[in-house]
Amino acid sequence: MSEERLYPPSPEFAAHAQVKSLAEYRDLCERSARNPTEFWGELAERELHWFHKWSSVLDWQAPDARWFVGGKTNASYNCLDRHLETARKNKVAILWEGEPGDQRMISYQELHRLVCRFANVLKSRGLKTGDRAVIYMPMLPELPIALLACARLGIIHSVVFGGFAAEALKTRIQDLDAQVVITADGGWRRGKEVKLKPVVDEALIDCPSVQNVIVLNRTGSEVAMESGRDHWWHELHEGVDEKCPAEMLDSEHPLFVLYTSGTTGKPKGIVHTTGGYMLQATMTMKWIFDLREEDTYWCTADVGWVTGHSYIVYGPLSAGATAVMYEGAPDFPQPDRFWRLIEKYRITILYTSPTAIRSFVRQGDQWPNGHDMSSLRLLGSVGEPINPAAWEWYYKVIGGSRCPIVDTWWQTETGAIMIAPMPGAIAAKPGSGTLPLPGVQAEIVDLKGNPVETGREGFLIIRNPWPSMFRTLWRDPQRYVENYWSRIPGVYMTGDAARQDNDGYFWVLGRVDDVMNVSGHRLSTMEIESALVRHPAVAEAAVVGKPHEITGQSVVCFVTLKKGNYDQQQLGDELRKWVAKEIGSFARPEQIRFTDALPKTRSGKIMRRLLREIVTSNHVAGDVTTLEDLSVLTSLAAQHDED
Ligand code: WTA
Repeated sequence: MSEERLYPPSPEFAAHAQVKSLAEYRDLCERSARNPTEFWGELAERELHWFHKWSSVLDWQAPDARWFVGGKTNASYNCLDRHLETARKNKVAILWEGEPGDQRMISYQELHRLVCRFANVLKSRGLKTGDRAVIYMPMLPELPIALLACARLGIIHSVVFGGFAAEALKTRIQDLDAQVVITADGGWRRGKEVKLKPVVDEALIDCPSVQNVIVLNRTGSEVAMESGRDHWWHELHEGVDEKCPAEMLDSEHPLFVLYTSGTTGKPKGIVHTTGGYMLQATMTMKWIFDLREEDTYWCTADVGWVTGHSYIVYGPLSAGATAVMYEGAPDFPQPDRFWRLIEKYRITILYTSPTAIRSFVRQGDQWPNGHDMSSLRLLGSVGEPINPAAWEWYYKVIGGSRCPIVDTWWQTETGAIMIAPMPGAIAAKPGSGTLPLPGVQAEIVDLKGNPVETGREGFLIIRNPWPSMFRTLWRDPQRYVENYWSRIPGVYMTGDAARQDNDGYFWVLGRVDDVMNVSGHRLSTMEIESALVRHPAVAEAAVVGKPHEITGQSVVCFVTLKKGNYDQQQLGDELRKWVAKEIGSFARPEQIRFTDALPKTRSGKIMRRLLREIVTSNHVAGDVTTLEDLSVLTSLAAQHDED
């Protein structure tokens, strides 16, 4: 039914949009398909600053891409310096509010100064182009400042989301051989301090590469400082020069590494480079967010995830936007914090996640209805499929039935939005990302790479290289090829299932691999299983995602125990906490289910499909910890599931 409901942009919206009609969109697609290098080359020249122009737009030796070969540029320069020669120099770049209500408004000019000073701090600590910085911070302006200072010098940054625990932080620091960790004492969430520095201290016990830890004073709580290694952010700034020219970096110089969960226990370090990434991040601000000079734009993601990289920092600042940043929880001190912020700052564009939207639906309309949100003109959604009911609520209650919604499909790997409606050109359908961006050849195929019929489910693939594509996996080029480009040689496998309807609209259904999506965060079943079997009582573990009304999916763990006497209720609680401690609280399982044996094929592979069925059909009910005898099911299913 919902597939039949079309929400075209209003004529007023379309008239002022960057892309004003379906015909205009089709023309862009046609041009990009006819001559992709000319298409992206023209945009790169117009939209970015280059110290030296490239010699060729694309060198594609599948699956290795180089964009704007030989070109010299700098992401920090594109986000800052080039605006200083325009009227934007005194425009607010970052409009920040802390959870306790403190505020900062930082102009482009001032942000430039802050970034230059911090870049000089990094230099003074001996850091240079090609080094790696791990950034583990709350949502403070100093977080984008740290990113942009690294980018300015060509230091490769890797942000680790503040919700990750010491173990996860440690493995990332080790994998990168990072020289510096940039952190804070803590941040505020739901009125409490979330301490970060002690987590860093724990992680660093085993990280000999780290010579410097830079600690921002946010909460003022007591922290241990290791002499010689740890330095206060503000102390390092004393007497530092305000001038720091941006390095002229190769277009293919790595800008950042961001870890994401894959199908094994080891996270993948997604490597993004400079020129192509910046181009697509900038273009999507215009095409999809329809950015105008006077907009006040708010992406509610955390900079710890790719959405924050591309749509809080690099995209908006490159495009000269005023970007809102908020430190804390959406429901603090009351469930209307988001709506308060929109009213207070007259926010015009809001970009958030389906999980957030569903939790707002549950809290009730009285919270948004108590605020004047007439400033909003465009809404966005990202991270997971949005169910049509949540879409409709977002449209009516938040958007006052006047704001187009851009449902944006993309991934850490793709770097920028790939499938989404251009809001002045494409009529939305609730639950569909609609059509690919110009220059993106998305298709739905079977395992052999043949297109499936309209309406049929298949694998979502991208056939051609795109500027903001990841280039490799950090120190694991083999896995880059095997994971993404080998199933169908030379074609990018997204790992998502999708179908296309009669209008060619894409409907992304979810992951086809052992990756779960909980609150829009990618979690690997294997990563949680590895964490569980590190617990002394656990013999084996199998983890699956269970459909969840608010978070999309929740984590359910089937566990067999080593010999011993256990209080299962107590052990269940302990294991939930254990996973939160090993990975991060956002990975905390909803259920731990104890069983005598795990269902396995005769060759010994755990049959997650069967477990998924059990949790989906609610075959074994309740949120309580129960002992399940899966042995009968196991032997039955094994006969059908041998592979
Ligand atoms: C899912 C987040 C449906 C998808 C930017 C993808 C979506 C994974 C959407 C990437 C959407 C993201 N509709 N599904 N609009 N956006 N996904 O790397 O399964 O954290 O593969 O990047 O989220 O998650 P990631």
